[in-house]
Amino acid sequence: MTQQTAESPARKQRAQLKVRTLRTDRWWLAPALTFAGLTFFLIYGFWAIFDKSYFVEPYIAPFSSPCLTTACPEGARLFGWAPIGDWFTLPPGLIILGLPAGFRFTCYYYRKSYYRSFWLSPPACAVGEPHKKYTGETRLPLVIQNVHRYFFYGAILIGAVLSYDAILALIHKPAGLGTWILLVNAVLIVLYTLSCHSCRHITAGRLNHFSKHPLRYRAWTFVSKLNAKHMQLAWASLFSVMIADFYVRMVAKGVITFPFA
Ligand code: FES
Repeated sequence: MTQQTAESPARKQRAQLKVRTLRTDRWWLAPALTFAGLTFFLIYGFWAIFDKSYFVEPYIAPFSSPCLTTACPEGARLFGWAPIGDWFTLPPGLIILGLPAGFRFTCYYYRKSYYRSFWLSPPACAVGEPHKKYTGETRLPLVIQNVHRYFFYGAILIGAVLSYDAILALIHKPAGLGTWILLVNAVLIVLYTLSCHSCRHITAGRLNHFSKHPLRYRAWTFVSKLNAKHMQLAWASLFSVMIADFYVRMVAKGVITFPFA
């Protein structure tokens, strides 16, 4: 029997199976659910960004916050501020959409999930994919995914703004159900942001001696615990932001009117 080396052609080929996979479990369930969840989010987001009912005192819908143009109602503006002026006539949510969207789109977890569920590359472990070549993220266009670490800083800003919105709602008396929905959403968004792999790297990624940097070590330990739950936080915050956004729009439209809405 001849020994195969790393360079031998046989080692470079994929397993020559006649069937797509030998797996007998429901391997297709996770990519199918992911496909459904992400598609639903994209459709909702598209509707929400063009919907005009994004503000009702004291709530602002997360998809439209921060509101930075003079078209925004007075109470909806961040610190009463409208730095973009009146030249931007498209929905205000479009101005900041790139930050949270770019952060999620380039997120390591979401990459894995949409590569599997949309691109089927591969759809699951040990399941054949329809593509002939695999070049990974080492060349264009996927090498651009490396900008994720920069989106992280933008996501910190968005998390701070959503927290500020929730606090404004909280100090408004009486606090309605929307306040608690915005608050839970802000907490989940911040936890998802802090659980980011880039955040973990920033806290202590290049340290050789934890003992010389006790504060960074503690931060890293905290972020590492969150990081272990990154997938769960990604989904929880995805749904919480949709629920909070939808709730505010329904109150603003007068669809939800019960006391303390
Ligand atoms: Fe998922 Fe950074 S890795 S948000």
